[in-house]
Amino acid sequence: MDTDHHDKVQRRHGYFQTHFLMERAHEWLTVGLASILRQAKDDHSKDMKNWLGYVGAWVGFVVEHHHIEETILFPFFQSHGFQVETELEQHKKIHDGIDKIQRLIQSTSTYDAAQLERLLRAWS
Ligand SMILES: [Fe+2]
Repeated sequence: MDTDHHDKVQRRHGYFQTHFLMERAHEWLTVGLASILRQAKDDHSKDMKNWLGYVGAWVGFVVEHHHIEETILFPFFQSHGFQVETELEQHKKIHDGIDKIQRLIQSTSTYDAAQLERLLRAWS
């Protein structure tokens, strides 16, 4: 195998590896969102801190996932000629809601179940 062919195989392998990891990450995000929506109307008054922590863990994952995409993956894709404007627009739309959710789950006094559900359903 010549070096050029070897490099092409490595790049292709890297692409599929990244694609696989992103698919799993997006699946986790989707499952987490569905889980929060399923429980949003439940009475969490006796376990509010844990509930807010649960929602906060999901929010943190979204924020971190997008940070990694925007600082590492997207610049890499762009340097190889791929467009990421659509993804960046999606992130912006999601983060407008994420910022509101973060304020909502800051404490038991700021939490509003109906508002959380409204914000989450705005994406689906
Ligand atoms: Fe992603």
